[in-house]
Amino acid sequence: MSTVVLDNVTKVYPGGFLAVDRLSLRADEGELLVLLGPSGCGKSTLLRMIAGLEEITSGDLWLSGQLANDYAPRDRDVAMVFQNGALYPHRSVRGNLSFPMEIAKTDPNMVRERVVELSRALHIEETLDRRPGTLSGGQRQRVAMGRAIVRQPSLFLMDEPLSNLDAGMRTELRMEISSLVRALGVTTIYVTHDQVEALTLADRIAIMNRGVLQDVGTPAQVYNDPATAFTAAFLNSQQLNLLAATVRTPQNQFIMLDFGPHQITMPWTDPRAYAVSQHTGAQIIVGIRPDGLTPVPEQTEGPSFFGRVRTLEYHGHEWLAYLEAGIPAVTVPEPPDPRRHMNGGAGGNGKTRSIMRRLLGAGGSSEEEHTPPPAGYGTHRRADLIVRLGNRPVWRAGEHGRVAVDVSRLMLFTQSGARIDPPRR
Ligand SMILES: Nc1ncnc2c1ncn2[C@@H]1O[C@H](COP(=O)(O)OP(=O)(O)OP(=O)(O)O)[C@@H](O)[C@H]1O
Ligand SMILES: [Mg+2]
Repeated sequence: MSTVVLDNVTKVYPGGFLAVDRLSLRADEGELLVLLGPSGCGKSTLLRMIAGLEEITSGDLWLSGQLANDYAPRDRDVAMVFQNGALYPHRSVRGNLSFPMEIAKTDPNMVRERVVELSRALHIEETLDRRPGTLSGGQRQRVAMGRAIVRQPSLFLMDEPLSNLDAGMRTELRMEISSLVRALGVTTIYVTHDQVEALTLADRIAIMNRGVLQDVGTPAQVYNDPATAFTAAFLNSQQLNLLAATVRTPQNQFIMLDFGPHQITMPWTDPRAYAVSQHTGAQIIVGIRPDGLTPVPEQTEGPSFFGRVRTLEYHGHEWLAYLEAGIPAVTVPEPPDPRRHMNGGAGGNGKTRSIMRRLLGAGGSSEEEHTPPPAGYGTHRRADLIVRLGNRPVWRAGEHGRVAVDVSRLMLFTQSGARIDPPRR
């Protein structure tokens, strides 16, 4: 068992590409930590630095309390499983599973026993005498997993081990990985770009974008109380409503979120009121999930939006409605990509740091200082509000409908996408 601590870790690839930017994160003993983010955000780079397959440009890696930046991969007691679980093609499944133990000169009887035990746990007993080429994708990944487990490492690193499998197999193997690593109690860092996989598997999720850690917390924390607009949108399997609103405090009586044709009021007793009032007169971003809007009868009092139903969408387990309410919407704010500016070869630590300082402003700590909204941000479009209707389409296209707004579930972000009221962690 092992703990992993990343302290301000940066990776600049030769040629100057900044793949991971001052990232700090820990995985506790026995924890299943999922690294989640879109393609190219630096997940594999981070995992490979932990495994020792990629040099750390600056910052520190601690494995079980030991500074491990310069440890050779074989001295880290780490087993890694990749997307295409590479197996020895000329060895049988049995041979693949036993190989790591043969290398370690384990007693042959013990090897035989463990291989059988493991193949049972992974449901691949019938394949033991077959070659990898004759297995299905799911079976191959099970063998790859088995080969990692058989060594009894103190840390598992898994890089999208399920992404080549079909949906059914993914779900099945996901549950098995979850119960297996928990039964073994081995600290595991699991990389995926699939938010459902992350939410269902993780003890905690760390979300990355463009090499920067966006948020970390339990699945419920990052889903319900996301630190950034990026996290909120990325974790939504349906689309997230991201709306532009201006904060007003008329006669200081209450807070009003002015959405143009609609206004929502927030009383001073709301725990977020003070933080929001600091933005009086400014435009902010309000996020609301489709299930935070509830269709109500036309005359209903209380916070609500009103609009024309443009289309309805059937999703099997639910209906979604697209409501034209005349509210300007925004896209997820993206900070300017500092990586574009890194060309010119930032090799050593000192050089990297000085470039980072010049780019980001020395000493600046708040996100606002680091990432001013890029030029071009704010191109609002008139959006449809996406509303979850449950399993009954209460409206027809072309009708007008009213939705109650659950004010407690509004997520409030600055224009650069940072949370206005600090998330509770
Ligand atoms: N050896 C390299 N040299 C230069 N750039 C690299 C190298 N390896 C990766 N990169 C770049 O670093 C960025 C992060 O890559 P990485 O493989 O870590 O992303 P990822 O989050 O794992 O993406 P995916 O989900 O597609 O696997 C990418 O833009 C990639 O092109
Ligand atoms: Mg990757």
